Amino acid sequence: MAKKILILNGPNLNMLGTREPETYGSQTLGEVEQLCIKRATSLGLGVEFLQSNSEGELVDYIQGAKEKFDGIIINPAAYSHTSIAIRDALISVDLPIIEVHISNIFKRETFRHHSYVSPVANGIICGLGTKGYLLALEALVEQL
Ligand code: DQA
Repeated sequence: MAKKILILNGPNLNMLGTREPETYGSQTLGEVEQLCIKRATSLGLGVEFLQSNSEGELVDYIQGAKEKFDGIIINPAAYSHTSIAIRDALISVDLPIIEVHISNIFKRETFRHHSYVSPVANGIICGLGTKGYLLALEALVEQL
């Protein structure tokens, strides 16, 4: 059975392509999804790609991943810096987790320097643009 990865995206990432393109680039989230599906297929992985603007919905997606997925790639977006609920949900499912940020959060405002998710992630990729999602898939396949 092919291993399955859940790729989760937090608030405002549905606006990729038009949102602050100087920071996040010009690719839409749909384009990122297609690239992830392509890379996952070539790595022999199954993938589901989801986005939500709601913290509770992201928690529900994470809880639901326990039985269905072998690993999680998450860009928690602004919730990285605020959400103990998302961190607790990630701990509860006990799956390998890679945190992705499109921008280099350490080069930006100080409130972005802290992530509640980072201490519970196996690895963190940030500042490499949307390529970070593809690198995360490559990293996870080795860990599974
Ligand atoms: C982000 C960085 C966060 O600080 C920000 O709130 C986002 C996107 C990134 O991918 O660079 O929405 O997670």
